[in-house]
Formats: sequence, structure tokens, C-alpha cells
Amino acid sequence: MIDTPALEVHHLTKFFGRKPREALEQLRSGATRDELAPLGTAAVIDADFTVRQGEIFVVMGLSGSGKSTLIRMLNGLLEATDGGVTVMGEQIAGIPAKRLRQIRRRHVSMVFQHFALLPHRTVLENAAYGLEIQGVASAERRERAERILDRVGLGGWGDKMPAELSGGMQQRVGLARALAADTDILLMDEAFSALDPLIRREMQEQLVELQHELGKTIVFITHDLNEAMYLGDRIAVMRDGRIVQLGTAEEILTEPADDYVAQFVRDVDRARVLTAGNVMEAPRAVVVASAGPRAALRTMRDLQTSMVFVVGAGRRLLGVAHDRDVLRLVQRGERSLDRVISDDHPVVRAGEHLSELFESAVESQLPLAVVDDDGRLLGAVPRVTLLAALGNVSTDTGEPAAVETPATIPVDVITETLHRTAAMQVAAEVADAVRSDAAERSPA
Ligand SMILES: Nc1ncnc2c1ncn2[C@@H]1O[C@H](COP(=O)(O)OP(=O)(O)O)[C@@H](O)[C@H]1O
Ligand SMILES: [Mg+2]
Repeated sequence: MIDTPALEVHHLTKFFGRKPREALEQLRSGATRDELAPLGTAAVIDADFTVRQGEIFVVMGLSGSGKSTLIRMLNGLLEATDGGVTVMGEQIAGIPAKRLRQIRRRHVSMVFQHFALLPHRTVLENAAYGLEIQGVASAERRERAERILDRVGLGGWGDKMPAELSGGMQQRVGLARALAADTDILLMDEAFSALDPLIRREMQEQLVELQHELGKTIVFITHDLNEAMYLGDRIAVMRDGRIVQLGTAEEILTEPADDYVAQFVRDVDRARVLTAGNVMEAPRAVVVASAGPRAALRTMRDLQTSMVFVVGAGRRLLGVAHDRDVLRLVQRGERSLDRVISDDHPVVRAGEHLSELFESAVESQLPLAVVDDDGRLLGAVPRVTLLAALGNVSTDTGEPAAVETPATIPVDVITETLHRTAAMQVAAEVADAVRSDAAERSPA
């Protein structure tokens, strides 16, 4: 079953000024905001997108680009000049005010930049305010608000007044109030913009955590592309009222739609945006453990690399094997790789941000193995890719970065060894066959 989208925005336009019909006509034929200035301000022009349930959808743009106007049309606080919005499947343009209030109460809460707390009420009463509006009984209000305050790190602060709290803590109350109301959708307009950088970062991390836990749909507005990219599953970039690009952080980073977006992208902290899964390459030096030392050595020779990833059934990563160790096995005629599979190389999850990977990369010369939750090998991140991200430069040369570490044993030495030991291998296989034959014949 396909979930109803949390929000559907169809050709939404907001024009502040005289003669909106005339303005719309001109906008439809491609007029810019500047050209319409004599009539008024086209704050939002033809916005068209869908927000999925459980998504963090970020709207990013400079001050004045139309973000607040857009978000205020999403919950019907502002009437659109043209186009429409559906909230959890229900179209809100032109519906009776009473019905609109019901939809808002059930589906949409808002967190504001300047917290908008009630100064003469306690922290707990502020957190419970949305529930009060919903008509929830007082004991239950208290209980639910206390639980949420705990959850945002304000356990024990319920009896304080807002003025006794720091800015960061006040915004936690704002967030708690929105969460306590338990609506499906949270609209957050520059909610963290007034906070100090460190507090702000903490709040961003906590918001992502809460979203994972509670599965809310969040529309988050910011003028900061770093924040947008850290938080957003998808990001809409606005300029002069229009959405100029809509995509994932990775898409916007790697393929900015125009110079305006490219300029933003230049200042982005790539390490905090890109994940191991975003930058990994397909490793070629991979062998199945059961293929044995000779196959592993051949693979390393052909790719001229000193190392292979060794996987078991279902491509589950067992470890890596190095050319010198495998060469020794082959020289001795050993048939199993097991003794030389080492697990001392870095393994990371696909969802980890590059900023979390540097430590692993420093500890080892080897490429980082990227695995899924079941330990299956998905790819590898070459160290050069990480270093490039650290320096905030793009490695996009059109060619994938080499995953393979350079060989430490000359090709002819390996070829000669494989040749020389081939007879040994055949002899061992014959011996095996005779043994198992004998075992089958001998009476139990
Ligand atoms: N009520 C209003 N009346 C007239 N113009 C407005 C009104 N609200 C916003 N604007 C104008 O619309 C444009 C977009 O504003 P806004 O949506 O607040 O942008 P942002 O939130 O991105 O800073 C600005 O030029 C602003 O001056
Ligand atoms: Mg704004």
C-alpha cells in the first residue's frame, strides 16, 4: 500500500499586492519577481512538490526568497493566490475555518525561530499548550508533556519559567510543545537560526534522532546550506520565490542546477553531508573464501593489488587477505584461506558520514570496507576520497578512485609460483579424491 503523502503542493503561488490576476498572468508567461515589482511582491512562484510521510524536507534559500511565505501556506495560515495544498490527503484551499483548525490540530504543529513561548506559564504548561488547545484532560496533558520534556533533555525543568532558561533550552521547550501535540507534521521555520553554533549542532543531531524514533514528517526551513544538507532527506533550494532545485544533498552537491546553487555548495562541509554509501566504489578485489588461496592470488596478480576482500556466503565480509600471506599459503600447497584472513582493516556502515570515518582511515592504510546491517560487503571507500572530502575538494574526475592498494609482489613472481605449485595442487586434489572415495567404500 502506498502511504498518502504528508503534503502535496500544486503550483502554489503567493502574490502580495494589487491586481493578483494580472500578476498571475504575467508569472505564467515567465515574468520574474523583479518585473512584477511595480504591482507588488511575488513571494512564492509556482512551487510544486510532494512531502512523503516520515521525511525531513528542507526548504533552503537566502532571506527574502519566500520560505516563510511558503511554509505559512502549508498549514493554511496564509491563503494562496493560486494553486493548492493537501494535508494528509485533504485539500485545504477554501475550506471552512473550523475544518481548517481541526486539520491543523490533528496534523500540523509549528516551531518558530523565536520560540514563541508563553512567558507567564511554566515550562511544563508551555509544553502542554498544544494539548490544552486540543482539549486533552489536564492529568493526561501533564503526563504527556513530562514524557516529552524528558525526551528533549529537559526532565526536571518543568516548573521553571521560560525566562530562566537559555535560548537552546527554550527552543527545546518549543520543540517539546510541537511533539507533545503528536501531530503527523512538524513545520519548523528557521527554528535553530537564533542559537549558538554548538547548541545548534546539538539540536540538529537531536532532531534527526527524534525523527528516527517518532517517524514525524518535518518541513524544516533554513538559510544555511550546511544545516539543510545535514538534516534534509531532500532539499528545495529557493531563489526569488521560485524553487530552483529539488534533490538530495548528494544531488545538490554533485550537480548544482545553476550558478546560484553552485555558489552555496562551495561552502558546504562535505564530510558532514556525504556518507560512506554516497562515495563508495565497487571493489574489484573480492574473492569468495571457498575459492581458496590460488584463486585469491590470481585475483591479486590480475589487479596488481596487495589485498583482497574475502567474503563468505551472501557476500558477507570475512576480512581481508594480503598478497604475502596468500603467496606463502600457495607455496606450501595449502588449500584454505582461513588462516590468513585478517579482520584488522576498517569496516564502516553505509549510512555513516565521512566526518565519522576519519578516525578509522587514520588507523589503517587500507580502503574502508562498507557493509550493510547484515555485514554484507557493499563497497569500499578509498582513502583519497576521504582526504578530498576533508580538504573540501571534489574528486569528481569522471573516473572512480582506485580502491585497490598497490601490489607488493612482482607479477612474474606470483605467476611463477602459481605455475610451480600447480603440480602440487593437482597431486593434492587427486589425494583428496582417493581419500573420499575410500571413505565411501569402507563399511561404516
Ligand atoms: N505580508 C506581506 N506583505 C507584503 N510582502 C510580504 C509579506 N510577507 C512577505 N513579503 C515579501 O515576500 C518576500 C518573501 O518573504 P519571506 O517569505 O518572509 O522570505 P524568507 O522567509 O525566505 O526570508 C519578501 O520580499 C517579503 O518582503
Ligand atoms: Mg523567513
